[in-house]
Parts: sequence; structure tokens; C-alpha cells
Amino acid sequence: MAKLERANFGSRLGVILATAGSAVGLGNVWRFPYMAGENGGAVFILIYVICVLLLGIPCMISEFIIGRHGRANTARAFSKLSGGGPWSLIGYMGILTGFLIIGYYAVVAGWCLQYIWASLIGHMQGSPEYFKEYFTELSTNHVKPVLWTVIILFMSYFIVEHGIRDGIERASKMMMPTLFFLLLIIVGASCMLPNAGKGIEFLFKPDFTKINSDVFLAALGQAFYSLSIGMGALCTYASYFSKQTNLTGSAIQIGVIDSMVAVLAGLMIFPAAFSVGVSPDSGPSLIFITLPNVFSQAFADIPMAGYVIALLFFVLLSLAALTSLMSLHEVVTAFIHEELVITRKKAALLVTASTAVIGAFCSLSLGAVGDSMMFFGKSLFDWFDFITGQIFLPIVGFLTCIFIGWFVPHKVVHDEFTNWGTLRGRFFHLFLFLVKYVCPLAILLIFLHQLGLIN
Ligand code: TRP
Repeated sequence: MAKLERANFGSRLGVILATAGSAVGLGNVWRFPYMAGENGGAVFILIYVICVLLLGIPCMISEFIIGRHGRANTARAFSKLSGGGPWSLIGYMGILTGFLIIGYYAVVAGWCLQYIWASLIGHMQGSPEYFKEYFTELSTNHVKPVLWTVIILFMSYFIVEHGIRDGIERASKMMMPTLFFLLLIIVGASCMLPNAGKGIEFLFKPDFTKINSDVFLAALGQAFYSLSIGMGALCTYASYFSKQTNLTGSAIQIGVIDSMVAVLAGLMIFPAAFSVGVSPDSGPSLIFITLPNVFSQAFADIPMAGYVIALLFFVLLSLAALTSLMSLHEVVTAFIHEELVITRKKAALLVTASTAVIGAFCSLSLGAVGDSMMFFGKSLFDWFDFITGQIFLPIVGFLTCIFIGWFVPHKVVHDEFTNWGTLRGRFFHLFLFLVKYVCPLAILLIFLHQLGLIN
């Protein structure tokens, strides 16, 4: 029987940029810089890098191995490697996590689009109170954010629908370099402001007194989230890697790019914030309230500069969000396309429609209708964030390590790790040790810590 040819990424660069695109997202900009500043600066960054190298990268490689071995969507890839049975459930769980995350990630990505628009028409200027009101008005509005959510989902749809090479790879090759370029421009502008040095110091000044188990676990949690571990995205992309793709090398390059973007995001935010004496925070309020205000104040003396920087910033953010969003879109699309045996286009459309409904509910849950959608004191939006990020992600990550470390025959793992003996695989034993013992233990600790069960 003729074997169906499965799509592939066309080049090494495509592999790196697309996968790094999945990893580089809102987490790099709104979470990492603040955590670094609050948790000991350079020391936190050092711990973070160690977490990426020793724990994040082995987990990434494990997902790559499962994906490339399976050459199919995440659920089937798990089931192929395990010969069916209960392990396939992890694959399904990864897909479900991806699916649920799209809903709220698209809402935030939609806000970014609205802010591009607002910068263009000159609305990104005013007092600190103005920015606060602007954001509250937008996020609780019943129409606008829902519309933007649908728009960004359709943008993602048009990319995913075009397949791997013509869609995801091509889009990544355009969007990622643009993102780096914008990042460098804003970092340059921010670091040239008066008093920028204070911001740089905040980010990099090592403060050893801040080191405790909290900081360690925060760095670890951030590393996993930032590398997109545990949601089927790495596994799905790896199913399009070729037999020559060096899994370890790619994982290291992606880890380095992701960490670099996170540090540069800090250099974009803090010098500007400190220059105008605004104390930065994290999460949505950082990027949608504090930063527009910071940019409009910091560049007030140069005509148009405030507008332009705000505009470039939200374009950058939208690109980062879109490349992550499309990787999640692909996780679910590949699954539906292959399991229900319908065309990629139909599958992608089905995903777009169903996530648009979830996104709309998430968005509405933040507004007045939200009162009827509060469950145990959390809005639907917060529930999605909590269930996916703090429950499903660690469970899938943990079980993936256990699966690769303890259940898949080592020969299979070794074959994938060394590209069937063509690579030396010097780090194989270290990899296996980390995946067997260190990673599962570390994930278990973050999980219990996040749930408040240990300190
Ligand atoms: N890594 C993304 C970020 O830094 C967030 C994320 C976590 C993600 N898991 C994912 C994105 C899976 C795409 C796919 O913002």
C-alpha cells in the first residue's frame, strides 16, 4: 500500500523559527521581566537559564522524540509509541490543554490588535488614569474584544490552513525576524532614555538575599511555561521535523532564543519605566496599562516618538502572540484533520469556530455578563488560565517524562536522540538521567507549590 507522504518543514531555519515562535509569546514579555526584577535580578536570570538547560530542554527533547517518532498528531503519536493503551490519554490531554488555552490566549492577543489600532488613531496618549480606564473599558466591553478575538483566530486560521511549509513555516520566517527587529529598536530607544541605567540595574543587579525556594520554583515554572511544554505544541511541530533534524541542537537553540527574547523584553520595559519613575508590574496590567503610559511619558519630548514606540510595541506583541496561537491551532487542527479524516481546511475552520465560541465566553466573563459566569470567585477567564497552566500543563509534562524515561524502550529513545546513530549523542545518558529522575521531581515540586500544598 502506498504510504501517505506527510508534510515536513522545508529547512532547518524553518524548524527553529517556527518552534521558537511557539515558545516566544506573551509569557516572555509580561511575566519574565517582572519576575526577574522582583526575584533577585541577575541571580534569577542565572537560575532561570539553568532551569531551561537542565530541565526545560530535556522535556522539550522528550516531546520532540514522541512527535517525530509518531509522525502524527499528539494523540496518535503517544499511542504509536506506547502500542495503544492508557498512555494515549496524555496525548489527548495535551490536545485538550492546547484547545482550552487558545480560548483565553486569543482574547489577550485580540486586545493587542485593538491596541495597535488605538495607537494608529492616536488614542494611546493621556494620563495614567486614562490608560487604566481605557483598558477596563475595553476588557469589559461586550463587542469589541470579542470581535478582535475572532479576527486574530481567523488570522491564525489563514496561516494554519495553508499547511506546514506554505503556512506555518513561511509565516514564521516573516514574523520572527520582524519581531526581533522591533525588539531591538525598542530596546535601543528605551536604553537611550535618561536614567535608563536604573532600569538595567533593576534587571541585572544580583541580589543574593532574595534567593529562596520560592524564587527557584518561580524560575522553574516560568521556564516550562515559556518553552511551551506540556500542551502538544512541541510534539505536533516535531511530527513535521525531518529525519535529519538534530533534536538536541534544535532544543538548545530554541531555549537560547526564548531566553534572549525574555531578557531583551526586560531591557525594553525597565529602562523606560525607571526613566519616568513608574514602578513596573506584571500580567495584563503591565502591557495594557503601565507600558502605554510609560511610553507616552518617556518619549514625550520627541514628536511622534511615543506613538511610534507604542505602535511598534503592540505590533511586536501581536506577532509574538500570533506565532504561539498558530502553534496551538495546529495542535488541534492536526488532530481533527487526521482522526476525523477531513481536509486540513475544514479541520482548521472547525477549530477556529469552536475556539471563537470559547474565546467569546472568556472575554464576556470579564465584563458585566461575567457576574453570572463566576465560579467559586474566579471568572471563566481565570479558570481557563488556572486549569491549563497550573493543573494540566504540569500533569502532561510530568507524565511525558515518566513515559520517555521509564516506559519507552531506551533503544527507541536512543535512535531518535542520535538520528539513528548518525549523531554522536554524547549527552544521551545525561538526558536519560534528567528525564527519569530530575524533571519529574522538579515538575512535581512546582505543581505542589502552585497549589499551595508546599512552600
Ligand atoms: N510559551 C508561550 C509564552 O511564552 C505560552 C505558551 C505556553 C504556549 N504553552 C504554549 C504557546 C503552547 C503556544 C503553545 O507566552
